Amino acid sequence: MNIRNILFLACFVFFQSSCNFFINPENVPLLPLMKEGNYYDITINGIHFGGSRSWIERWDIIKKSYDYRGLKVLDLGCFLGFNSICIKKYRGAQSVTGVDYQSLDQAKILAQAFETDVNFIFANFDDDNIDYEALLGFDYDIVFCMSLFHWVHNKDRFLAYLSKFNKIIFEGHQPAEVEIERFKKLGYQSKILGTSYTGVHQMTEKGRTIILFYK
Ligand SMILES: C[S@@+](CC[C@H](N)C(=O)[O-])C[C@H]1O[C@@H](n2cnc3c(N)ncnc32)[C@H](O)[C@@H]1O
Repeated sequence: MNIRNILFLACFVFFQSSCNFFINPENVPLLPLMKEGNYYDITINGIHFGGSRSWIERWDIIKKSYDYRGLKVLDLGCFLGFNSICIKKYRGAQSVTGVDYQSLDQAKILAQAFETDVNFIFANFDDDNIDYEALLGFDYDIVFCMSLFHWVHNKDRFLAYLSKFNKIIFEGHQPAEVEIERFKKLGYQSKILGTSYTGVHQMTEKGRTIILFYK
């Protein structure tokens, strides 16, 4: 093997390991069945779960963007909870609460597999009787609202809730200028953190900008 091949192999191994999440091998059977066609594309312990959005790409943006150590984090529309789990396990958040109106069973199993504790709450932001304060409170240092706003029907009420927080990490379906304008009206400044793409195999597909809104 010549030096070029060795270098190539080293880069390949580094790239593979940097795209991989490792959990205790004994916990691998706990991983829920994540089939092709899933939302997240992720590799755990070398097992590749295919999906339409690269989790590592988004995680790379999120993890570098903020110092989460010691913070109380709220993850709205948490889905499988990867964000909640990774912030708690790898970024030292004091506590993380993930909220969604889909079953949180898989998210709970994943948190167990990653040996971390996340508080998962079932809630529908379009429930007419939702009492945000009673259910979720406002005692969070930073809130994630990623690829959720588009799906919430009662946008005014949801925005009124969101605007109680000083720091929001947001990913919308609209171009960055539109989202920035929306939050500017609510008194927020903004910082673009990065862009992630839908369709891992077609990087030309529409990108979504991840933005920190802060007061
Ligand atoms: C596209 S996924 C985004 C998941 C995650 N935030 C991310 O960016 O990786 C949208 C999530 O929002 C949740 N969701 C949509 N409408 C909701 C509502 N009215 N109340 C609570 N959760 C909702 C969905 O169940 C889904 O898990």
